[in-house]
Amino acid sequence: MDDVTDTVFRRMVHATAPADLYFTEFVNVDGLQSVGRPKLLKKVRFTETEGPLVIQLWGKNPENFRKTAEQVADGSLARELGLPEGVNFAGVDLNMGCPAKSEVKNGTCSALIKNRPLALEIINATKAGLAGQLPISVKTRVGFNEVDMTWIEFLLEQKLNMLTIHGRTKKQMSKVPANWELIGEGVKLRDRISPDTIIVGNGDVMSHEHGLELAQKYGLDGLMIGRGIFQDPYAFAPQSPWADIDRETRINLYKQHVTLFAAQWQDGERPIHTLNKFCKVYISDFDGAKELREVLMAAESAQQLIDTLNEALALQSA
Ligand SMILES: Cc1cc2nc3c(=O)[nH]c(=O)nc-3n(C[C@H](O)[C@H](O)[C@H](O)COP(=O)(O)O)c2cc1C
Repeated sequence: MDDVTDTVFRRMVHATAPADLYFTEFVNVDGLQSVGRPKLLKKVRFTETEGPLVIQLWGKNPENFRKTAEQVADGSLARELGLPEGVNFAGVDLNMGCPAKSEVKNGTCSALIKNRPLALEIINATKAGLAGQLPISVKTRVGFNEVDMTWIEFLLEQKLNMLTIHGRTKKQMSKVPANWELIGEGVKLRDRISPDTIIVGNGDVMSHEHGLELAQKYGLDGLMIGRGIFQDPYAFAPQSPWADIDRETRINLYKQHVTLFAAQWQDGERPIHTLNKFCKVYISDFDGAKELREVLMAAESAQQLIDTLNEALALQSA
């Protein structure tokens, strides 16, 4: 998730209740293959301690997809990020689902649902860049303005290694509940068109149990959790202990997150207020949480955050 699932948050999740697979924030290939590249690298930074990680790409120019895919597949992007030989991304995912106005206006992401020739060119260019060395996947929605399962059929005809289906149209944004019947229909299409493609369902999954129930009901191979992680940092655990986790542990978890953030983003690559969206994840559901959050969200440095968290912890043990 853009501006959310950076290397720091992934490390927190992986150490708390690991997922099987992670995705980077989406990164624009046209920007990556331009002078703007250094600024975009923050979106794809990772460490060896995060579990398998797929890089998610978006953009317009097929040639830039090809070049980027090649740099991922041959490991040169990972080396550029400072990772040792032998450590690499686990695959490449293409974003064909983001409904944001600027991306759609630009003819990218979910706009590709109504531009199959370009979607095909992008998929083929990415495959050419990967040269079979890493898997390719697409994440998409079930239509643009209306449900259109021929789009899912079209994607399956491309024999992708994995297809993630978010059960809403672009027009629906996140305003209606995800339609899991349509995701289930995607599984049936897969069985007929491309039996080797792994199907992942996405939309409103809040916990491991909830995901498992849906996976069994609809015959899915995998489940993707997005916003659920904001409700529960243990969303990937088979049985989340989050509801019983005490104030001190919650404060300590946030302190750990802030400490990792300060160490990772030392040169201001990410502003401190980026942390505010995580504050509510940890600093919640205990007496005084709201008041503590207000102070934390006004902080102007990582040190100020750590000091406030230490004071809150001292108050507890006093
Ligand atoms: C803040 C935010 C950022 C997101 N960024 C991305 C992104 O970079 N790539 C992507 O494929 N989906 C992105 N999404 C969409 C989610 O991955 C997911 O498809 C959507 O939220 C529905 O699933 P959920 O109900 O589990 O959150 C983002 C969603 C949110 C709320």
